[in-house]
Amino acid sequence: MVTIRQGMMKDCTDLLEVYQGTRWFYRTREGGYTTVEQIKEEHRGAAFARWGWLVAEEKGRVVGEIVFRTEKNPIAGKIGIIRNLDIDVRQQKETIGTKLTRAAEGALKKKKVVRVVATTPPAAYNYWMKVKYFARGSIANLRISLNKVPEKRTNKVKTIKIKDPQKLPKSMKFSNIAYPSALAELAGNVIDGRSKGILLEFQSDGRVIGVGVVVRRNTKTASFVADVTKKGIGFADIVISRTARSAIPWKVKSVETTIPKDQVDVYTSFAKWSFELSTDIPVTRLL
Ligand SMILES: CC(C)(COP(=O)(O)OP(=O)(O)OC[C@H]1O[C@@H](n2cnc3c(N)ncnc32)[C@H](O)[C@@H]1OP(=O)(O)O)[C@@H](O)C(=O)NCCC(=O)NCCS
Repeated sequence: MVTIRQGMMKDCTDLLEVYQGTRWFYRTREGGYTTVEQIKEEHRGAAFARWGWLVAEEKGRVVGEIVFRTEKNPIAGKIGIIRNLDIDVRQQKETIGTKLTRAAEGALKKKKVVRVVATTPPAAYNYWMKVKYFARGSIANLRISLNKVPEKRTNKVKTIKIKDPQKLPKSMKFSNIAYPSALAELAGNVIDGRSKGILLEFQSDGRVIGVGVVVRRNTKTASFVADVTKKGIGFADIVISRTARSAIPWKVKSVETTIPKDQVDVYTSFAKWSFELSTDIPVTRLL
């Protein structure tokens, strides 16, 4: 019999074996998963919500896991985000994935979530269709030479660097034009010290109208996520370009970001980005 319960740090030993089976080809953790500590590291820190961690246990062994949390969205209200779902390869197609998904939805419903989103690789797309999710939109990867990002000088928008953040700033627990959870994930990596990066808030008339996170990927590339509040929509070009240009001191050549495809126009309206569609597919379900 399978029991669904909250995850605990000691489950990471079993989860290492689960991940080694499920994440060998599409999860791009360099070198793969080799130690329990790597799994533990993914289950603590600024962007991790302990309440949003469920595991499936069978005969004293953890054979599956789902990780999820919530985020505010000015259009959809409070959304639930499923960050990952992994079932031991030896126990797939035994309804464990469905049980974990429904349990996560139950927990999200209690948090007043009305819409759940997940991002799936093509190989698991049919699973999400079977559990009544549907595909909505697509994901675009944008890239540009840093010297082609225009400088936006205006004293209407003030840029504030968040110094030595210890936890996820409240202003980053939302998504509007950014891809759901992209901001929190990247900010979490900076706060927890996994990536070298900068957290930014943008203010106009004393209120936050935008946020940005930029990290140094390697000697050539920086990645960023930028977002604006409803009131900040008119300043999106300023927020995006200032976030991207915060990578200049690292002397990287280009910057990249991943966004919902239907927001591409916001980016191309002020700079010449190169564009590539992601093979990952956003899926969603109304609760
Ligand atoms: C995708 C995954 C979570 C499904 O878990 P699972 O426990 O095997 O799923 P279930 O047994 O509850 O399957 C529910 C239905 O989906 C179908 N299904 C499951 N995985 C499928 C797949 N990869 N392709 C096609 N159909 C699939 C099942 O056959 C079942 O259909 P049925 O109701 O007609 O019998 C699991 O295969 C997995 O961990 N994959 C690797 C990691 C991954 O891709 N995770 C999802 C991205 S977040």
